[in-house]
This record gives sequence, structure tokens and C-alpha cells, in this order.
Amino acid sequence: MKTTLSLTNRHIVVGVCGGIAAYKSAELVRLLRAAGAEVRVVMTAAAQSFITPLTLQTLSTHRVHTDLLDAEAEQAMGHIELARWADAILIAPATANTLARLANGLCDDLLSTVCLASRAPFMVAPAMNQVMWENRVTQENIARLEAREVLIAGPGVGEQACGEFGPGRMLEPEQLVATLSSLFLSERLAGLSVLITAGPTREALDPVRYLTNHSSGKMGYAVALAAADAGADVTLISGPTHLAVPPGVRRLDVVSASDMHELVMAHASDSDIFVAAAAVADYRPGSVATQKQKKGASHVELKMVRNVDIVAAVAGSTPAPFTVGFAAETENLATHAQDKRRAKSLDMIAANLVGADQGGFLVDDNALEVFWEGGHKSLPLASKTCLARELIGLIAGHYHARSAA
Ligand code: C5P
Repeated sequence: MKTTLSLTNRHIVVGVCGGIAAYKSAELVRLLRAAGAEVRVVMTAAAQSFITPLTLQTLSTHRVHTDLLDAEAEQAMGHIELARWADAILIAPATANTLARLANGLCDDLLSTVCLASRAPFMVAPAMNQVMWENRVTQENIARLEAREVLIAGPGVGEQACGEFGPGRMLEPEQLVATLSSLFLSERLAGLSVLITAGPTREALDPVRYLTNHSSGKMGYAVALAAADAGADVTLISGPTHLAVPPGVRRLDVVSASDMHELVMAHASDSDIFVAAAAVADYRPGSVATQKQKKGASHVELKMVRNVDIVAAVAGSTPAPFTVGFAAETENLATHAQDKRRAKSLDMIAANLVGADQGGFLVDDNALEVFWEGGHKSLPLASKTCLARELIGLIAGHYHARSAA
């Protein structure tokens, strides 16, 4: 299991409840930021009696979220946006009261609502008097949360603020930060090589001009990060983007579709899984002028020639990796996506509607419909990071099922 701290650029919602350990949340937020995470803090009403929002605002460098029904706060970043923004939620300290409300699906304040509205992985650091911790009701609530894959960190055993000795101390902030990275890391793709394309391509017209598209590369980069988190050896072949290389990922830069094709084919036979997330230009100018073309004529005609379909070429090669394509469609999503999957002999295709208010190019959120032979799964609107993790989960499941068959 990888143990490196992988919090660079991760979006962490820190929930703070009303217990004396709330004073340690300040150090927790500071450490998360120092580990590279972006932090948004949500405080319950009781938490604000122990530590001021201003302290956590200063350390997180963002306004602290406290109210569910505050029109102004909702306008800035509402509870659904906050839930979607989160790559992980960490509640520290988590009181018996908040644990009970979460275990029962209550959503009567901002923190519980954000938790209920998010698909992000989720960790709680209980902190309470030892009798409250050992109470059967609390233990039943903890068991219910564990059954829903909530990671329970602690509590530690020791001196308590109430003068008693026993289990109920919140784990130290350093321990919580170290444990948080295990929320992201798994071994689902350990030992496997994953090749991914991302971003747009540029098709040159002359030395200064080119044709391209609006792809930001965000989806492909998120898939690369999710694959690295799952323990894979990841190579990302990227067209021009402004994005940073995700931690643990090897990036190779290309410009044109032809460059991308050449580099992908050089790596494909050594890869177990290929995910084609790049928005590759289908056509390129038939000839590239060696000098900058001068204006003068009232119109010019451009002759374009077809680029190689990279994902189809990989799927048709021997031995072919488990191959996943993307499809952006404006209508009849299921029919067009499944037709495209069959035509290109793909194992899986992740399709999204474009032109609707559904996310897509340039934005941080998206929704995907994933198809394979005889099956389908909807991944509803979420951050591209969250979707990428879910997509990698699906790919890993299908890859291993195929290998076992
Ligand atoms: O056929 P269409 O371009 O809609 O298919 C999109 C899928 O094909 C994406 O996965 C994209 O990365 C891939 N593709 C490719 N090479 C091309 C064009 C598209 O790999 N020349």
C-alpha cells in the first residue's frame, strides 16, 4: 500500500462539531493546508462556542460555512456545491450528537446536509466523554456508519477534559492527516499499467496558427490521478493544457493528433488498461504551410484529411489492453454511445450529453453514462475528481472480472 501523503490540491471539507477538542481543529486545518490540500470549513452552531469561525477562516483562507438557510452564504457556495466540491469530508471532532444524526440520515443543519448530499469518501474523528462513547447507542451508530464505508478514526484512549480516563479523545491532528490519505489510496489497480490520453490536440495550419477545441483536459487528468490513487503505474499522454501533473503520474506531452497516435501506439502493448479521454481532432489540414500565410484573398479554402482514430487503433491491436473511450453526444446518448463502443471494439465507453446544463468541456463538474457489453451505469453530476474515482472503480471491477473469466 502506498503511504505517501497525497493531498496536493485535494478538496477537503472539514466539519467541526461542538466539543472541547474543537480547539485542535485549528491545527488540523493548518496541517491539511501545509500538506497541499484546499480546505473549506463547516462548523455546527455548538462548535462556534469552542472556537471562532474567524480562526478557521484565517487558517483555511476561506469564509467558514455555518448556516444551512443563510441566503447570502448559499449564493456564494451553497450546500450542494460544497458537497460536490469535496474530494473528501473529515469531521473532527465528531460529537456523539452529530454521529447519531449522520447515522440516521438527518440533515437539519449545514454539516449533516453536506454529508448526506456528497458522494465523496468520508471520515470521522469521534471525541466525547468515555461513557458516551461506550454507550450502546453510540456504538450502534458507529457500526451503521462503518457499514456505509465511513472511516472511523479513533478515538484515542487517555486523560479526558472532563477529568475521566478512557476512550474518547480525538486523535491528534497529525494522525488524522496521515489517516486521511488512506481515504484516497487503494490497491484496486496495483501492479497494472494504465495509459491515458487527455486534453485537446492542435493541428497546425502554418508556423503560427492551428485548429483546436475547448477541451481543458480536466477529465483525463482526474482519471490519471484516480488510477494512480488505485495503485496503478500511470502514463498520461497529454495535449496542451494548463494543468499540473497529478502526483504519482508520468506525463508525456504531445501537440498534434499524429504525435499522440505515435506515442500511444508505442506504449499501448505494455499497458493493461487504456483510457482515451483526449478530445482528439478528427481532421487536420491537408498541408502545413512552412511560412506564415499572409492575408489578402477574400476567402480561403481549407482541405482537411482524417486523423487516425487512436482509441479504435488501440482496441484493434494485439494484444489490446482493456480499452475505454469517451463520447460526447448531443442526443440519443445510449444508442449513439453503444453504437460507437461496438464500432470501435471498446470494452467500455463513458458518455456525456453536451450542450445541456450537464457539465462537459472546461467546467469542473460532469455527469457520465457508462456502457459495456450488456450493461450500463449512470454516474450522476459530480466533480470530475469524484466521477473519475467512480469510473476507475468500474474499470477495475470489469478488468478483474474479465481477467478472472
Ligand atoms: O468518434 P468520437 O471522436 O466521438 O470518439 C470519441 C472517443 O474516441 C474518445 O475516447 C477520444 O479520445 C477517441 N478518439 C481518438 N482518436 C481520434 C478521435 C477520437 O482516440 N482521432
